[in-house]
Amino acid sequence: MDVLTALLLVHLIPVSTPKNGMSSKSRKRIMPDPVTEPPVTDPVYEALLYCNIPSVAERSMEGHAPHHFKLVSVHVFIRHGDRYPLYVIPKTKRPEIDCTLVANRKPYHPKLEAFVSHMSKGSGASFESPLNSLPLYPNHPLCEMGELTQTGVVQHLQNGQLLRDIYLKKHKLLPNDWSADQLYLETTGKSRTLQSGLALLYGFLPDFDWKKIYFRHQPSALFCSGSCYCPVRNQYLEKEQRRQYLLRLKNSQLEKTYGEMAKIVDVPTKQLRAANPIDSMLCHFCHNVSFPCTRNGCVDMEHFKVIKTHQIEDERERREKKLYLGYSLLGAHPILNQTIGRMQRATEGRKEELFALYSAHDVTLSPVLSALGLSEARFPRFAARLIFELWQDREKPSEHSVRILYNGVDVTFHTSFCQDHHKRSPKPMCPLENLVRFVKRDMFVALGGSGTNYYDACHREGF
Ligand SMILES: *[C@@H]1O[C@H](CO)[C@@H](O)[C@H](O)[C@H]1NC(C)=O
Ligand SMILES: *[C@@H]1O[C@H](CO)[C@@H](O)[C@H](O)[C@H]1NC(C)=O
Repeated sequence: MDVLTALLLVHLIPVSTPKNGMSSKSRKRIMPDPVTEPPVTDPVYEALLYCNIPSVAERSMEGHAPHHFKLVSVHVFIRHGDRYPLYVIPKTKRPEIDCTLVANRKPYHPKLEAFVSHMSKGSGASFESPLNSLPLYPNHPLCEMGELTQTGVVQHLQNGQLLRDIYLKKHKLLPNDWSADQLYLETTGKSRTLQSGLALLYGFLPDFDWKKIYFRHQPSALFCSGSCYCPVRNQYLEKEQRRQYLLRLKNSQLEKTYGEMAKIVDVPTKQLRAANPIDSMLCHFCHNVSFPCTRNGCVDMEHFKVIKTHQIEDERERREKKLYLGYSLLGAHPILNQTIGRMQRATEGRKEELFALYSAHDVTLSPVLSALGLSEARFPRFAARLIFELWQDREKPSEHSVRILYNGVDVTFHTSFCQDHHKRSPKPMCPLENLVRFVKRDMFVALGGSGTNYYDACHREGF
């Protein structure tokens, strides 16, 4: 199959559902369903989900709660939207993608022009250094490496609008006269994460007032702030990388494919592999730009499928071997700890930080998903969103509950800290205490050592 045929398929695979009809086939799924999903995942289908090409408004489960529940706070983790590749395929022309934002190009969002005009009046005071040196929206006729594209901006304008309809219009999360300290905003220092966060906020806030915006800078992709030093986490990562390497060696079809592609572009196989060609190929794929050719031939859909299939295999083995889980439990602890701290303050009636936004990367979301026990969840697509909602039961005001949503799907009862609760309680939510107990203690128990806190678990001897 060529790129064109694959992209035409986008329109055959429903990415949204009619308001009421929920056939099992068209329902968007985050957790593979063993009953209806084929056991062999289709690499092209998976790649299309990864692209997350914006279409009609999607159906989502955010904000669903019985009437007697009050929404207290919301914590949103996003991956940046569609971006230009981070690597080039050696000796080929890089894909010609325009990173300026224009109205007569698809995908489009009604707020796109207003977003550009508002961003161009941006204020340096709204950003912690060094964020204030970053451009506030993509603006290059030929994208720079890693730059957010128009698709990426539209994805997050849509995310923002969706969350606004649910959290602001329906649940009145923020008062009309909301103030700066009711938002908590944090991003890594890349233009694509900052711009993604701004696009989401622009879609979300009823009045985007620069005086009320303050983005903090997070230097670590794990969002581990002052608690990044963790030797055991690094040991897990090294073992995980070793596992990855051995799996690759076992895949002769993959080696053959890299060999063929290396011949086409006329560089040593090792050099081609180091250039991580799948990143670039996904950009071609998501943007319907044909794969590169040289006078030796063309990179093609079969190459793409082999590499993508291997990625899926790799994720499957990663779940089984659990090394990545160890890495994730330690890697995600600081940000989960911060989140429950923020939730606990909200339960005490504090009115600050009601809406927290962390604008991040696949390497941020992936460990959090894994640590929560959502190992079946798909790899974070462009503009993926993971949301923690905190609710109060008006009938029992001292009781607080959480819901966890991934790309609009309620995954609360797939988490390791709430699987059993589901069977015992009719409440469609998880007690906050479960999440707190998990973050404060059970995460470390799950690691299997004797450590019962972050410091001990990070410094375990003889691991
Ligand atoms: C993909 O690009 C081709 C031109 O190369 C165009 O004819 C086709 O309509 C595009 N497909 C989609 C789904 O945009
Ligand atoms: C967890 O959060 C508390 C405050 O809520 C803080 O005192 C503690 O240092 C944090 N621990 C880690 C490991 O981040």
